[in-house]
Parts: sequence; structure tokens; C-alpha cells
Amino acid sequence: MQRRVVAEPYKIKAVEPIRMTSRPEREQFMAEAGYNTFLLRSADCYIDLLTDSGTSAMSDHQWAGLMWGDEAYAGSRSWLNLERAVREVYGYKHVVPTHQGRGAENLLSTITIRPGHYIPGNMYFTTTRAHQERNGGTFVDVIIDEAHDAQHPHPFKGNVDVDKLRALVGRVGAANIPYMSTAVTVNLAGGQPVSMQNLREVKEYCAGQGIPVMYDATRAVENAFFIQEREPGYAAKSIASILKEMMSYSDGCTMSGKKDCLVNIGGFLATNDEELYTKACELVVVFEGMPSYGGLAGRDMEAMARGIYEMVDDDYIAHRVGQVRYLGHQLLDAGVPAVRPIGGHAVFLDARAFLPHLSQDEFPAQSLAAYLYVDSGVRAMERGIVSAGRDPATGHHRYPKLELVRLTIPRRVYTDRHLDVVAGSVLGLFEKRDTIRGLRMVYEPPTLRFFTARFQPLP
Ligand code: F0G
Repeated sequence: MQRRVVAEPYKIKAVEPIRMTSRPEREQFMAEAGYNTFLLRSADCYIDLLTDSGTSAMSDHQWAGLMWGDEAYAGSRSWLNLERAVREVYGYKHVVPTHQGRGAENLLSTITIRPGHYIPGNMYFTTTRAHQERNGGTFVDVIIDEAHDAQHPHPFKGNVDVDKLRALVGRVGAANIPYMSTAVTVNLAGGQPVSMQNLREVKEYCAGQGIPVMYDATRAVENAFFIQEREPGYAAKSIASILKEMMSYSDGCTMSGKKDCLVNIGGFLATNDEELYTKACELVVVFEGMPSYGGLAGRDMEAMARGIYEMVDDDYIAHRVGQVRYLGHQLLDAGVPAVRPIGGHAVFLDARAFLPHLSQDEFPAQSLAAYLYVDSGVRAMERGIVSAGRDPATGHHRYPKLELVRLTIPRRVYTDRHLDVVAGSVLGLFEKRDTIRGLRMVYEPPTLRFFTARFQPLP
């Protein structure tokens, strides 16, 4: 029986040509890029699944908003539209715009974290943890154990383990925890959601301890979709109302508008806390710009304001997550090891299981991403030992349980046919997986090494 199809809830108005390269060309490009897909030129990528960040296709309404953007230095109409959109759709009182998510992370971390602090979170994210550590904090993972098991079918694999959180509070004291950091969804766990019940429990517990709850709301709309689909009592509720309820169990959020908000650049810090808001307004001037533009052009704020209303359209988000799943199930059905359940923004290949003959020191996910590019011009991203970096205390590699290659689907950009090409290439590599060799690292920067590290193939 044919699976029910959800077609694109949009039609195409402008196209951007892409070009297939030859295999010898791609071998050369990959070698020149040091076997790091971040260092490839986009013109040399046929299908670019490096990230869903800033790669969305904007709507005609958003493009019209670019022209309509108000570029006044202060009090811009486009800023007021963005502020109103965040208040109406997310429900927070105060908004401070930033150039992207990490700008908001910088504000939050600089304002609240002191040396000796601990920040619990449901799995780390690279830039989030880097800002916590820069300010002297220590990240502590309090996600449920199932999240670290690529094959576990838990429907809400992003959930916080409240017992782990309680144990941390018992060990270090609530006074040393500036906030609980909850990501909805959890990127590095595979785009896995957090249930409404868990969000409620975490808020209840933290409120009792006097610990604020801050979300990383980067992909909160995708999280809302999973709640609508999987959590009892939510099937008949709109995405907009589910999102609002989710946010009501937090005190604020950092946000990369480059994902959910359907724009190419932008972010914000939002909060209900007056003191945090006042301090963020003071600090944003130093790093980003006035609290009424935060490093963004008026047109960028206009596009983000419009994207915020579009992102909560029920048909849009059902198709978006459905498309990720369309690719994921082709691979799972053929026996390719990938993180289950398929998450909201990407299909994550399980490189450990794909390449059992490679040790983690041979960078299996980095290598698989390089082979995929050479095979078909599809650009993916490593999310394993290279992304995890080194422990600042010991200087040793961190060895994450999840060693993944992320095939990230940009929003409203590729057709299912493109995804068929991706699936075909992954399946071909899977058939000859024992011929895939590992890598050694020949250049490593001190922080966020995955962006610029270079590798060479092992013999
Ligand atoms: N939080 C999460 C969960 C993210 O995925 C990202 C970015 C950020 C924060 C930082 O936001 O890039 O706007 O500064 N993730 C991108 C990715 C880079 O490819 O997953 P940013």
C-alpha cells in the first residue's frame, strides 16, 4: 500500500541552478578541503545538506518584506514588527535581537555565568557549550540515557532526566546553577523532541529550587509538531497553541532565527525576567548594536517577523518534518543504520554501526561524510568526535557515544527527488562499506575545531 503523501504546501517562483561535478573533480575538491565538508565551496556541492541553518527558502511575502524593511538606526518599524511577532507567537514579554543564535548565547552566558557555575542541559550543543565554558561554567548533561542510544525508539528522546538534574542540584547546590538549559528539539541527539509533560516537570522542579529555565528554542516549532503527533491530548491542538504552551514552562530563550524562523540570518534573546532583559539591553550594545536592531538590518528583522508567523502554519511544519522522514525511512527500510526515530531537521547516519571496522580515533563520521561527497556531490556534516572537541580540563578528545553524519534538510529548498538522489548514494556506500577507510587529523584549531580542522586519509 502506498504511504500517504504530503505534497509541498507551496509552489516554486524562482530557481537557483545547481551543477553536478565529475568524480575526479570531487576527489580533488575533497582533498583540497582537508576532508572537511565545511571547507568545500558551495558551488562544488550538488545537494547541500551541511545544515538547515540560514539555508531556508524565504516566501514571496518575506522577500517583499526585505524591500519594505525600515533601516532607521533607532525605533525602526521592522524592529517593532519583530518584537510584536515574538511576543505574539512565543509569548515572551521582552525581546533583544542578535545577529544569530550564538549572539544571544553570548548575552545569556556573559550575564548569568560565573566561574564555578554548572549549567545542566539536555545534551550539549557546540556553540552553546563554548559560551558556557568561556564564562567559566561547566556543562552537565542531564538528558535521558536513551538519547545516547542511536537505536532506542523513545518518542521523546530529548527529555530531561529529572533525577539527574536533582542529583546535580544535590551535589553543587542550586545557587551554583544560573539556569537550566533545555533545547527543544535536541540537535545532537538527532533532532529529538522533548515532551510537554517533561517540560512541565522540569519547570515545576526548577521553580521549587529557584533555578530559571532557559530554552534553546532554535527548532521549537519542530518540537511542537512532535508533541501534536505523539503526545496524548495534543492531536487536535494547533502548532501555534502548542508552541505557546511549551514556552510558558520557561523563563526565556535563546534563538537562532536561521532555523525555525525561515530566514538567512538573525536571532534573539527573549525573556520574561526584567533584570535579565535590562542587562541584556546594556550588553547587546557592546557586541551587536542597539537593542532595537542587535546587529541586524531592518530588512532582516522584517523577514524574520514574517517568517515567525509562517513557521506556525500547521501544513508547513507537517510537510517540513514529513520530508525529513521521507529520506530517513528510505534509508532505514534498506537497513542503513540511522538514528531512530527520525528527528525534525535531519537524518543522522550512525557512523559507528555503518563502519564497525573503524575506531572512533579514525574519525568514522568525518570519513563517511567525505566519501558521500566524493560519491555524489552531497554535502553532509560530521557530528561525532570532531564536533565534540577536547575536554578543557584534561585536553583529551571527548568520546561521544553518538558518532553521526548529519544529512540536514534545508526548509522549502529541495524536492523529494533530490532526496532520492541522496538516498541512492548512501545506499551505494552502504553496500561497499568495508572499503571505507578512516582519517587522521593534521590541523586542529583550539575551539570549535569541526569548522576548520583538516584531515588526511589513512592508508
Ligand atoms: N542552538 C542550536 C540547537 C543550534 O543548532 C545552533 C546552530 C545554535 C544554537 C547556534 O545558532 O548558528 O545562529 O549562532 N546550529 C547550526 C547547525 C550551526 O548547523 O546545526 P547560530
